Amino acid sequence: MTTVTIRLAAPADIPFIMQTERGEGFGEFVGRWELAQHEAEFAKAGNAYLIGEKDGSPNGFAILRDLDDPFGNVLLKRIAVREPGAGFGKAFLWLVMANAFGREKTHRLWLDVFVHNDRARHVYRSLGFREDGVLREAYAWPDGRRASQMLMSILRPEWR
Ligand SMILES: CC(C)(COP(=O)(O)OP(=O)(O)OC[C@H]1O[C@@H](n2cnc3c(N)ncnc32)[C@H](O)[C@@H]1OP(=O)(O)O)[C@@H](O)C(=O)NCCC(=O)NCCS
Repeated sequence: MTTVTIRLAAPADIPFIMQTERGEGFGEFVGRWELAQHEAEFAKAGNAYLIGEKDGSPNGFAILRDLDDPFGNVLLKRIAVREPGAGFGKAFLWLVMANAFGREKTHRLWLDVFVHNDRARHVYRSLGFREDGVLREAYAWPDGRRASQMLMSILRPEWR
């Protein structure tokens, strides 16, 4: 049986994270940063870089932001896994949510997801996230195409 675990990332995990966010076809779904930006984000006090492991080996990552937000709004900035659709991401996200709500100041865990990212939206919904509303055509790719983003969130009482 597969074991899914979570741990805080170390700076040495950044190459794995960069490789994962550059997965085939992910450009339509998730952002990607260069090394310097990851290093800067990693060092910020309100951020947490998390690694999901499958049987002890890194298989996905997530970035939480605003853990120091005075209103307890924590952003799931990014999540991606090595092999989408194999059942890992859902289990890992559950552990990411437990990590976020394990911090007593967290009241609301939120994210934005492209409306065309059906798989991610399904995963978020199935773990209790609700849809807050659509940011219509809020994102633009360098080639000028635009995309709408769905805001989703889960509140501490809903997590319980
Ligand atoms: C989003 C992501 C983290 C989810 O992890 P995952 O390992 O693929 O998820 P799982 O395999 O655990 O679960 C996938 C679920 O989506 C469903 N699914 C797969 N493709 C789907 C589609 N096109 N439309 C709707 N649901 C879909 C599966 O049936 C499964 O649901 P179920 O468990 O209820 O049957 C992963 O797909 C990923 O890294 N995607 C690329 C990056 C990305 O989109 N990140 C999120 C940005 S907001």
